Amino acid sequence: MANSMFSTKPMNVLLEETKDSGHSFKRVLGRFNLITLGIGAIIGAGIFVLSGEVSANYSGPAIVISFTIAAIACGAAGLAYAEMASMIPIAGSAYTYTYATIGRFFAWVVAWMLIIEYLFAASSVSVGWSGYIVSFLEGIHVHLPAALTNAPIAYDTALDKFVLTGGILNVPAIFIVALISILLIVGIKESATFNNVIVVIKTTVILVFILVGVWFISTKNWHPFIPKNTGVFGQFGWSGIFRGAAVIFFAYIGFDAVSTAAQESKNPQKDLPVGILGSLLIATVLYILVALVLTGVVPYTKLGVPDPIAVGVDAIGFTWLSWLIKLGAIAGLTSVILVMLLGQPRIFYTMAKDGLLPPIFTRIHPRFKTPYLSSIFTGIVAMFLAGVFPIGVLSKLVSFGTLMAFTMVCIGVIILRTRRPDINRPFKTPLYPFIPILGIVACLVQVAFLNIYAWEFMAVWLVIGITVYFVYGRKHAKY
Ligand code: ALA
Repeated sequence: MANSMFSTKPMNVLLEETKDSGHSFKRVLGRFNLITLGIGAIIGAGIFVLSGEVSANYSGPAIVISFTIAAIACGAAGLAYAEMASMIPIAGSAYTYTYATIGRFFAWVVAWMLIIEYLFAASSVSVGWSGYIVSFLEGIHVHLPAALTNAPIAYDTALDKFVLTGGILNVPAIFIVALISILLIVGIKESATFNNVIVVIKTTVILVFILVGVWFISTKNWHPFIPKNTGVFGQFGWSGIFRGAAVIFFAYIGFDAVSTAAQESKNPQKDLPVGILGSLLIATVLYILVALVLTGVVPYTKLGVPDPIAVGVDAIGFTWLSWLIKLGAIAGLTSVILVMLLGQPRIFYTMAKDGLLPPIFTRIHPRFKTPYLSSIFTGIVAMFLAGVFPIGVLSKLVSFGTLMAFTMVCIGVIILRTRRPDINRPFKTPLYPFIPILGIVACLVQVAFLNIYAWEFMAVWLVIGITVYFVYGRKHAKY
């Protein structure tokens, strides 16, 4: 079996790496920082931007049900992640877990999906950031030229094809990626502190929105709670709720990023499950409450805008709160970009250590102790994507890639429990095997409901990935 596509990374090697891993990275992150790292990655463009698109186009007020379906998939996958992360606490997340369980080729495929998750999510959220910053600057009468704040292409749902927008490049989106990449190269400790401050700001803003908005809910906005299907698959009705779930799934992505900081965590075995599940739970509660308030204060038909929460606040009539929401959103989106750009180079690092990528990706900066070359590479690609593509397109690809990676982690838990029941599992997924199976089904159902162009893109992406694997990875793999 050795050196076949099903060869797995030996468990003893992984466990050795876990012990030794303190040498290159600094172990500075505690339990609290891991939860805030998770929230920093989770709460972002999903709630601040995409919640509008989903309620206006797919689910209506039943976005609450879409959020719940997506939360079930994430909860099951989160438990699987927690079991894996406590057992194999080294950077690399779903990629590492798949390498240890299913084998090298599938690990490569997962890594290829994770690139879509992290890199593309960093870019999508940067586009959302750009939208809020432009709207904020307009408010203080600073007008940026539209050609320099918009992607050159967009997807027209009505025409069902890509069209030119007249924009040239989304410069603010490129700017924020560049800024955060530099911050990450300088050091993880500084970045974690910065993240904590932002997490406090964005959760406060969301809580204020819920606590103020709840008094202005008009229950007639919730009727019909599930708008009738328009006759087109995915537009309202139950098919709309499921497509809405697949799109809004994006809002939960990020809790898994906690596992990519395993080597910077002080006590990964105990603290990673707390970080993963704690941040996911907090986000779920906040999202469902925001969705109820938002669709309660504004008719869902009016929410198809780039800044739906600000529209909700405007409907209440509190201008000061609208400013607060915009600032909170800008801060919140910044921390998501930060965690995504933090996770990606660390996955490259682990892959390069395994020989699947060139050794240049393992280079750690002598003074800053960060994988600086992979951070620069990640930053450059993310800047390109953020400058050229709209959020609606990028975010659906992110959901697709992440749902596939989550499915693999759930499968991995089942395989490893069967093959290696002897390994110490500081955290065990409860109700086994029901929970991992639920995770697999819930993730795959959502993938099935995603737009057709996401499927087409992913098919091409996979072909490119498999080619790279056979040209480079397979020949240089250590295991
Ligand atoms: N969950 C992240 C967000 O909503 C990716 O921005």
